[in-house]
Amino acid sequence: MIKCQKHLFSLDTSEYYLNCAYKSPLLKNGELLAIQALKKERNPSYLKPFDYFNISEEIRTEFSKIINSNKDEVAIIPSSSYGFANVFNNLKINGNKAITVENEFPSGYFSIKKWCSEKNIQLETIKRNNLSAQDWNKKIINSIDSDTSVVIISSVHWMNGTKFDLKKIGEKCKNNNTFFIVDGTQSVGALSIDVKDFKIDALICAGYKWLFGPYSMALGYYSSKFNDGIPIEESWMNRTNAQDFSNLTEYDSKYKPMAGRYNVGETTNFILSPIMLNGLKQINSWGINNIESYCKKLSKIVISELSPLGIAFENENYFTYHLFSLGLPKHLNLLTFKKILEKKKIRVSIRGANLRVSINVFNDERDIDKLVETVKEFI
Ligand SMILES: Cc1ncc(COP(=O)(O)O)c(C=O)c1O
Repeated sequence: MIKCQKHLFSLDTSEYYLNCAYKSPLLKNGELLAIQALKKERNPSYLKPFDYFNISEEIRTEFSKIINSNKDEVAIIPSSSYGFANVFNNLKINGNKAITVENEFPSGYFSIKKWCSEKNIQLETIKRNNLSAQDWNKKIINSIDSDTSVVIISSVHWMNGTKFDLKKIGEKCKNNNTFFIVDGTQSVGALSIDVKDFKIDALICAGYKWLFGPYSMALGYYSSKFNDGIPIEESWMNRTNAQDFSNLTEYDSKYKPMAGRYNVGETTNFILSPIMLNGLKQINSWGINNIESYCKKLSKIVISELSPLGIAFENENYFTYHLFSLGLPKHLNLLTFKKILEKKKIRVSIRGANLRVSINVFNDERDIDKLVETVKEFI
């Protein structure tokens, strides 16, 4: 297992940053590379035609290793909403129904909602109510049938980390000819995912959380179902002759193969791309399993210290080690507690009724002990 990696970041040592689900801190190496890239902007003579393409290809390759895909199935996009727009622009109608879950993140929710109203498809939101995570998952799976065109769901719930049975949902979707679209923003990079094994048709991830990328850069996986799709914009960079700068007005009719057509225009952001690439390479060098085990080690301390005091956690099989909610006893006020945490510089988020804690390899036992101690005092 890897050791704490705090030394690779520039976090404020007087703070306890348990909020990677909000935004990841910048890796020191990413910062250096971005400064170098900024300096390169001083004189465009240093900018060669291959600079417009190479780093983007490397980003696609590194991301494809994390999700077990081919690099040509990956597109570089500016946000998850942009990634979903390309998905819904190319979705075939296979039935009269579409499915999402309660409190799905708004970028995915609004994308499917718009598609449903344009195509006159009924959107079904599967509510949890008081169900266990297992029963909620069963309800989701049971709701998928041959009349379901598409399911959109996050890999783990963004508010409290509840896991979804992606493999089983993917299987059911495949058997019903249903598109399976996953928002991986809150887990890809910290929890293993296999797009082929889970039969995912599109996986969209914002880059600035668990992928250690910059804000305004996201990554999307598009399966072969999208190979002949139409992108939402017509960029010269997404044509097969793009590298040939002197002949661009030959107006090549062919898009880049597979997901290359979905890359955003001006794909290679010269300043931000080095941060993204560095983050992905760092994750691949740590190894997802090691990141997972590290987060497991820290979150187990939280569970073992706080469960006996009546703090509720998600059932173990559906618990996400890097992102979870502390279920305070009903009589305690969440907002009052958040203020106390802020005062002690413990950074977490409130999402809905959840006090969301998120852990990554830059956290250590000191961060966890501070959180545990503060919860104990409050109780
Ligand atoms: C699950 C999830 N998806 C997507 C995003 C970001 O969406 P976008 O890239 O459209 O701004 C977030 C941000 O918190 C998120 O939690």
